[in-house]
Amino acid sequence: MLLLKGSFVSAFLLVISLIANVEAANGFSKRLVPPQTPATDPFYQAPAGYEFLAPGTVIRSRSFIPAGLGLIVDILSVRSYQVLFRTNGINNKPIVSVVTILSPLLAPNDRFVSFANEEDSSASICAPSYNYQFLAFPSNLLVQADLLVVQAYLLSGYTVSIPDHEGPDSAFAVGRLAGRVVLDSMRATQNFKDLGLKPNSMVAGVGYSGGAIAVGWAAQLQPTYAPEINIASFAIGGVPANLTGTFAFVDGTTFSGFLPPAIVGFQAESAYPELRQLVNRVATPAGQQALQFASTHCVVDDILSFAFQKVADKKFSSLGDRILYDPQVAGVLNDNLMGSNAFETPTKPILIYHASQDEIIPYANTSTLVDTYCNRGAAVHFTTYQAGGHLTTIVDGLPQTLQWVADGFAGKLKNNKGCQRDEKLDSPLDPVALGVELEPVLIGLINILAKLGEGDSNVQQNLHTLNQTATVPPLNKAAIASRQLH
Ligand SMILES: *[C@@H]1O[C@H](CO)[C@@H](O)[C@H](O)[C@H]1NC(C)=O
Ligand SMILES: *[C@@H]1O[C@H](CO)[C@@H](O)[C@H](O)[C@H]1NC(C)=O
Ligand SMILES: *[C@@H]1O[C@H](CO)[C@@H](O)[C@H](O)[C@H]1NC(C)=O
Repeated sequence: MLLLKGSFVSAFLLVISLIANVEAANGFSKRLVPPQTPATDPFYQAPAGYEFLAPGTVIRSRSFIPAGLGLIVDILSVRSYQVLFRTNGINNKPIVSVVTILSPLLAPNDRFVSFANEEDSSASICAPSYNYQFLAFPSNLLVQADLLVVQAYLLSGYTVSIPDHEGPDSAFAVGRLAGRVVLDSMRATQNFKDLGLKPNSMVAGVGYSGGAIAVGWAAQLQPTYAPEINIASFAIGGVPANLTGTFAFVDGTTFSGFLPPAIVGFQAESAYPELRQLVNRVATPAGQQALQFASTHCVVDDILSFAFQKVADKKFSSLGDRILYDPQVAGVLNDNLMGSNAFETPTKPILIYHASQDEIIPYANTSTLVDTYCNRGAAVHFTTYQAGGHLTTIVDGLPQTLQWVADGFAGKLKNNKGCQRDEKLDSPLDPVALGVELEPVLIGLINILAKLGEGDSNVQQNLHTLNQTATVPPLNKAAIASRQLH
């Protein structure tokens, strides 16, 4: 069983006692100091000659104490590793990244879930591999909250493999890069001997929002980049299929703070460093300052600091509202437009879901992507969530995603052909809907839903709500009851 008791203090005391029990055997005691950040931790550094290794090669590994959200994953029932592996950036530039692997002791050894977080930031301290280490500074509240979703997969009995899909430079929003990192993290998980997976294990790739960029691109690149991986299914929600559309949709709104870290991400060394010249030429001092902020902060701070500002304004760049028409900018955005090339169409069953009222990622662009995939004969199940906003649909879509993953592993999706479309009109989350094991997870998630408000209404009224969602309050029965009434 995993520990999901709400209070940090009791969880902390519990882990201390767990550590006391296992430290002699495992030598964990030296980890009782806060972990180093990715910028200083030598574990993250590429060794000499790494570029000659095949993509997906394990370079080094360590065991660690996984934690997050003030909760500690029970180290006695879950094996926990981090693995540095070789992968590729844009233009196949050799890079390395880290994948965090959590494996329940009784997990089947012929399958695993590859889970991509909505890291949504371009500072290395926001990476999941850092955030999930015991005593790490909880820098990325979305990644912290994701631990509940990860717990849902662990409690379902799956090994979960969580890539730092933005790569070594935290290149947020660069799908063509993240897709490769996801695929190579799957290879590294398969190759990692200590885990003992059977050859050719089945994989389910799942991700929402920023995680859907990574997994959506993994689905698109897999047939050509990693055809040998035994993919059972993909599932992506809140899908940023068209970054140009997303830019136009969020700029100047509550959520315009997603844009500066994306600009930082695109200029990363492993992405499109040639953009730096352009940025240096056109960014005003205020623009440079916004990018500097985004390169050192995580998503919630980015959103709070940039709300209602407009990147496409003369205040931030001399291009003003012509920014999307600059050929270099348009070029890299097109290079990362999902569905732009017929040879990059997913060939494995894929669930795509999106809230029709999504206030951050335009629904229309995802619907267009689905049409494109469908016209090319892909096996797509597209579900429209009529009741949620972008954030609430993370939670509302979870039961469907868990079922999709289970169906994929059970071989039930193999005969899926062509397109299916359906919709969910309401978002009732019953805490026991997924069985007693998952009840504590669903209660935590329902609490988060209550904080976000119906269709993200609380967040839209007061952005600071975001800052509260990752601190899961003690079990709130009233919130659950009101949720079930809808
Ligand atoms: C992407 O978004 C842009 C800007 O809204 C739009 O002009 C274009 O048609 C979209 N393309 C696709 C394939 O969705
Ligand atoms: C993409 O989304 C943008 C922003 O909402 C919208 O203006 C555009 O029409 C959409 N294009 C397509 C092809 O879906
Ligand atoms: C978020 O909450 C934490 C803890 O309550 C506080 O220290 C921090 O300043 C808050 N951040 C923002 C941006 O409101």
